[in-house]
Amino acid sequence: MEKQVNRIGVLTSGGDAPGMNAAIRAVVRSALGRGIDCIGIRRGWNGLISSDFIRMDTSSVSHIINKGGTLLYTARSDEFRNVSGQDKALATCKLLGLDAIVAIGGDGTFRGALDLSRRATEVGYQLQVAGIPATIDNDIGCSHYTIGFDTACNTAIECIDRLRDTMQSHERCSIVEVMGRRAGFLALYVGISVGATAVLIPERELNFEHDIVEKIRRARLAGTTHYMVVVAEGAGNTMDISRQIHEEVGIDPRVTVLGHIQRGGAPSARDRETASRMGYEAVKALSENRGNCVVATQEGHMVVLGMEEALQMTKKLDMDRYQILEALTNNCGTLR
Ligand code: F6P
Repeated sequence: MEKQVNRIGVLTSGGDAPGMNAAIRAVVRSALGRGIDCIGIRRGWNGLISSDFIRMDTSSVSHIINKGGTLLYTARSDEFRNVSGQDKALATCKLLGLDAIVAIGGDGTFRGALDLSRRATEVGYQLQVAGIPATIDNDIGCSHYTIGFDTACNTAIECIDRLRDTMQSHERCSIVEVMGRRAGFLALYVGISVGATAVLIPERELNFEHDIVEKIRRARLAGTTHYMVVVAEGAGNTMDISRQIHEEVGIDPRVTVLGHIQRGGAPSARDRETASRMGYEAVKALSENRGNCVVATQEGHMVVLGMEEALQMTKKLDMDRYQILEALTNNCGTLR
């Protein structure tokens, strides 16, 4: 028999992303509006294991919609991967009387949520889970968009615009590493937006001559005297790339690693709005007993997918964007 949802827990897990706070706020306010109690679990799944929680009321989420980071803190939990960790987490769920959990994070977070709900069923406890996709990498298969991506792109663009000023003055080559260990979404969107000379992404095997040397030479032939190479974290070692450019093109690049700067800052309008809608939809789905789901965006629409199905979905980088980048940057000089 379906159990009525009276109390939900909300947590953030994995790498933080701007807009997580807006999602927490939306979950708490939507829950309270439906007469559902809300408990904040701190430090991701670790908080559920160690009973680290706070009661959430409407004022506990006031004035956070504009803040980066996550007021619930976040962590990656090794212990939660094991059944013993999940059993400790379930003990906290029982103690708190949780009927459902909203987990805000990436694929790993959703896998954890699904494992917990399956383990709950095995031991005869009913626990629904709902996932909200949030990561600056935008690499969650089931959702075209993930909370934090837009803000991270804008942050990287602002930094690179500043770099461009000094690269232009000194007629230099800049190599900028952006985040993205396994996915090149951030690098490609940022590369197009700053008019990069070259963009390296993990999805594409590097051909140094074609992907970098030729592009710099063509840009030079077209009259450009400064070059911007954007490298996704997982696409190569920026110091090695710099050395190789020096050897093969005879210029002396400067390397900048943007790093965790991209994960901070006030969320953009898109991230606040998406997070608010996702938080609302997650609570709605749980209150209608449509749990074990992920709230995702598909073709611009908000959809609620089964979590198992969602975890099997994959998303490919749109390589047309790569062609657009090449067509629009200074690579129109003819090489002989
Ligand atoms: O949140 C995703 C991400 O930012 C990746 O792009 C990056 O590789 C990773 O997290 C870094 O994580 P951390 O330094 O927090 O372990």
